[in-house]
Amino acid sequence: MTEFSPSLPGPEPQCGPESAASPWPERITVHALDPRHGDRQLSAAGEHTLMELLRDRGMSVMALCGGGMSCGTCHVHVPQPWAGRIAPASEEETAILEGCERYEPGRSRLSCQVRLEPALDGVRLAVIGE
Ligand code: FES
Repeated sequence: MTEFSPSLPGPEPQCGPESAASPWPERITVHALDPRHGDRQLSAAGEHTLMELLRDRGMSVMALCGGGMSCGTCHVHVPQPWAGRIAPASEEETAILEGCERYEPGRSRLSCQVRLEPALDGVRLAVIGE
């Protein structure tokens, strides 16, 4: 596995202040299996959604609605035990997911609705996109 080095302009996303007292790890690492790029290791510092990380690193996440929970193009599969560490999907998110071609109950999530939290450091997922 190699570190993905996108040819995107600018530094990695840096949202929100970090301090020595922050409960956040310096970086949260995500292992993403992407249909175009294969297995990639990505990382983010600060507070982001999973969609922001995947989209900004060039993964196959179109995120057409920009995180507005209306397009389903940020679809990912998150296996256990990681899926159990994410806040459950809302009824609205579930309704969007049920309309996605590769919806899998218990694994499918809209990455725009998943905050990158310390409990997800090291998460493994599959990018579905659509
Ligand atoms: S970005 Fe559109 S539903 Fe997530």
